[in-house]
Amino acid sequence: MAQPVAEPDRLVYTPEEILDSGSYEEPLIAGGVRCHGGFDAEGQYRSPRTIHRAPAILAWKAQLAREGHDLIEIDRALMPPQYPSVEQGALLLRNGVRDPIARSLTIISIVEGFGAIIREVAVPDLGEVVVEPTEGTALAHLRGGLFEAHARDESGYREEGGHKQMWEAARDLALESPKIPGDVLMRMMGRSGQRKKAKRPYPQLDEKLERMLQMMAQVLVVEVFAEGTFAWGVELLSNPEVSAEPEAAGNMVRYVQADENPHVEYLRTALSEVRARTLRTVDGGTIPGRTVVDGLLHRILHNMIHSRPEEQRSDLRENLAEAMKVASNPKALLEEFDSLDRVWTPPDRTGFEPVTAA
Ligand SMILES: [Fe+2]
Ligand SMILES: [Fe+2]
Repeated sequence: MAQPVAEPDRLVYTPEEILDSGSYEEPLIAGGVRCHGGFDAEGQYRSPRTIHRAPAILAWKAQLAREGHDLIEIDRALMPPQYPSVEQGALLLRNGVRDPIARSLTIISIVEGFGAIIREVAVPDLGEVVVEPTEGTALAHLRGGLFEAHARDESGYREEGGHKQMWEAARDLALESPKIPGDVLMRMMGRSGQRKKAKRPYPQLDEKLERMLQMMAQVLVVEVFAEGTFAWGVELLSNPEVSAEPEAAGNMVRYVQADENPHVEYLRTALSEVRARTLRTVDGGTIPGRTVVDGLLHRILHNMIHSRPEEQRSDLRENLAEAMKVASNPKALLEEFDSLDRVWTPPDRTGFEPVTAA
């Protein structure tokens, strides 16, 4: 199978190259749906749209390092644990209580599908808003394929399924096509509607630039925290005690997991490139990119580590007692479930605290 030879130092790519998947020996079929990605001659899964995108990201990272700049690193200790835990999830499934897990997996698939909004993010003219040149950076390729590749990976493209369909397939394999609660999407929409519109954190910036950076920082944090969700999914759905198709369901989540790597990597590279530069303000002045990127990451991380554990917990517990009615001894089950609850305290620092006092 002829694949283009990687050119490790190349920094400029066309959108078609960034979006190119090359060819596969065998496609990935999930739940009867043809999905993105596929298998090589050795049966190894290869993520979609990576033959150029993966070496490109490595080259942009190497350039950043050569220029002496840091790459953003989000401390994994900030990652809130998944609720219910793997142990709690297995306990429910062993007792025939499938509804809460079917619900959690459906929420994950819907969130994946929402990822397609990244293609709607407007990118300002970088020459106007960034002082230093940006040619040959990840930043310069956001419109040129990176956002579009990300959107396609999450929600599928044309006849090909993406992560949304792959999580649905994993759920249906493991739980034998469970009945899906009809209110999942409505509840999610209800909550996002309740969030109040926040003040602009950097009103001195071009609004398009500010919105783009905010979105990228938000998605980066979501992608990093998703690592915990994937590990949870692999462990729970690969457990032959509770999963009808431990191998196939676990593998499906592993494929999604592999596909997420380029998302985390291009986002942190592009944000690090901004961090290494100077941004123009609308009044003709400048502000260090580092101030803006760190400020945005700090706010987002701080909010998420404090709100997310409680949100996930209350989402699950809202229907838990009702769902447990199918068990032979619901009261004992709830007690055992609660005994497995672990308190998680978010770390004191996000690592992106402002250097100078506000
Ligand atoms: Fe995804
Ligand atoms: Fe992703």
